Amino acid sequence: MAIYAIWNNKGGVGKSYLTFQIASEYARTHPAEKVLAIDLCPQANASGMLLGGMEAGERALDSLSKLTPRKTISGYIEDRIRQPYVNPQTGSTYLVAVSQKNPAVPANLFLIPGDEQLEIQASRVLGATAPGPTDAWRIVHTWISDLIKDIEQFFNQANTTVFIDCNPSFSIYTELALSASDRLIIPFSADGSSKRAVRAVLALLYGVMRTPGSQQSQFYINSKQFRLSPPKIYCYAGNRLTQYVSSAKAFHTVVHEIGDEIWAVWQSNPNEFHIHPTGSGSPANRSAFNSMFQFEIVDANTASVVSSSLGIPIVLLTAGVHAVVGRNVMVNQTQLDKQQPNIKQLVAAIE
Ligand SMILES: Nc1ncnc2c1ncn2[C@@H]1O[C@H](COP(=O)(O)OP(=O)(O)O)[C@@H](O)[C@H]1O
Ligand SMILES: [Mg+2]
Repeated sequence: MAIYAIWNNKGGVGKSYLTFQIASEYARTHPAEKVLAIDLCPQANASGMLLGGMEAGERALDSLSKLTPRKTISGYIEDRIRQPYVNPQTGSTYLVAVSQKNPAVPANLFLIPGDEQLEIQASRVLGATAPGPTDAWRIVHTWISDLIKDIEQFFNQANTTVFIDCNPSFSIYTELALSASDRLIIPFSADGSSKRAVRAVLALLYGVMRTPGSQQSQFYINSKQFRLSPPKIYCYAGNRLTQYVSSAKAFHTVVHEIGDEIWAVWQSNPNEFHIHPTGSGSPANRSAFNSMFQFEIVDANTASVVSSSLGIPIVLLTAGVHAVVGRNVMVNQTQLDKQQPNIKQLVAAIE
């Protein structure tokens, strides 16, 4: 079983979009396994897409959050806040079979939906990390691991693959997501601020400091103290590669620069990385490193909009006219031909 967090310390880089695409495609290509998506973001964008997109997905989310308790991540977090240091083992009661809401996704895909309430719960979650017992911080940071264990037990299947969509900010619920994960997928877009955000990821999680003497994150310090290891870097994915030649060049330059930063971490701390089981062993040089850890995903323009608005995974989307919120929108085969192989390739690298 592997638990993947999809995180970058920056919004709008495609974390939620890729969570939707990767989880759906992984479930499609592994029909004998159970696949669990956990949405630890108050925006609940990945949940909206998984549950059927802008109309059906939003409606489903609305009705799930009207139940008592809310059938979302916030329902579970509420159980934990009530008695922070006792495991209620209620995780599986918040599970949603995605295909019952959205027939476009495989039946083996399940979801713990996101919820805007997370934002309001955050201060109470933080309040539970201290004071309390001496290991209060550790116990709170295993809440999501407990949730996953409950669900695995419920599935009665050790072979569950988990994808956690994260909020960009390094808030308490992002910390909980990262503590529960063992592998990290870092999407980024090709701009200068993405480079800074990737540096922030490296500093916050792995203590990679650019200026000597800078302060380490409390998460880094406490994770070491309580022996909770952060996820290992599984890959970094340049997302929304534009198809225009001149912009594509600029994109590759940024991808390469970000690759340089991550390569430098590999050279000093290879144990922060997860060698792909599907790959050919520990990379011996930069080009082998790139082929294992670096991915690129093109911008599929209208096709991506239709895929996310209707909750139809891009790999299953067909060319032609689609009705999106009462309007007919044309999807071109060329857009599909560009992005579908990217998603398939990324998912093929996932164990
Ligand atoms: N490869 C892509 N091609 C086209 N649009 C994309 C792609 N990846 C993401 N998007 C779009 O970009 C926007 C931001 O993506 P999103 O997943 O919400 O980012 P994040 O979760 O990192 O904040 C969304 O409208 C999404 O549909
Ligand atoms: Mg998001």
